[in-house]
Amino acid sequence: MLLRVNDVYKTFPGPVAALDGVSLDVHSGEHVSIVGESGCGKTTLARVIMGLVDPDEGSVIFNGHPLLTAHSRRGDFSRQVRMVFQDPFSSLDPRYSVRAILKEALRREPKMTPGEDFLRMRKVLDLVRMPADILTRYPHEFSGGERQRIAIARALMTSPKLLILDEAVSSLDVLVQQEILAMLEELQQRMPVTYFFISHNLRVVRRLSRKVAVMYQGRIVEYADRDTLFNAPSHPYTQVLLKAAFNYEVSP
Ligand SMILES: Nc1ncnc2c1ncn2[C@@H]1O[C@H](COP(=O)(O)OP(=O)(O)O)[C@@H](O)[C@H]1O
Ligand SMILES: [Mg+2]
Repeated sequence: MLLRVNDVYKTFPGPVAALDGVSLDVHSGEHVSIVGESGCGKTTLARVIMGLVDPDEGSVIFNGHPLLTAHSRRGDFSRQVRMVFQDPFSSLDPRYSVRAILKEALRREPKMTPGEDFLRMRKVLDLVRMPADILTRYPHEFSGGERQRIAIARALMTSPKLLILDEAVSSLDVLVQQEILAMLEELQQRMPVTYFFISHNLRVVRRLSRKVAVMYQGRIVEYADRDTLFNAPSHPYTQVLLKAAFNYEVSP
């Protein structure tokens, strides 16, 4: 078991709990998607897993180690679990070159020689299909899709076991979205990383993940193999989501 989320609750001031008893197991290599409408708690779940938010109740176990508080999630954990956020324009510091951005990710890694650094950077840029000569360039020189590739490259610098992608393609044009998804699909074959892919878009989710969890108002209402979920959804809310996605597809 790579990740176990165990009966997690999190309440913010407001009428509904952000997380209302969420449990979820992710096995290594089993790419999982979380899908659900805006506000259902997806990002809060990601932030709890990342240790950016402490749950009110419940626990997260990563690779056999319980992660009880945000404070304890340092060191090895932060190398093994990496996150890519939605907005490619705010996630890369404009003052730093691509080289500096990628190098920053190695801050807590055992010391490498400059040659080793460079090889690692070339490798991750190749994984996201960007040329190595961009290392001297700056974020403002790139499109949103290219920036998102750089953000993914940065996340891969520490060879994480789990990569959380929170609406990572949602702000991109459909065509660019398709390119990034194709790149992520290819990456699955080239690197032993497990995706935890968060999206409000069922069609995006269908492409990338074997298992899909449907979230609604802070709960996981259905967690099933992709084919089961898309062909024979058991929860009424999943059926509503599928219908909405289908209608969207047929009417331009
Ligand atoms: N830091 C916060 N303070 C107050 N309320 C929050 C905070 N983060 C999330 N929420 C609330 O928790 C709920 C779930 O939000 P979120 O996890 O961002 O959902 P999603 O990512 O699915 O859109 C929403 O009602 C949101 O307003
Ligand atoms: Mg969100």
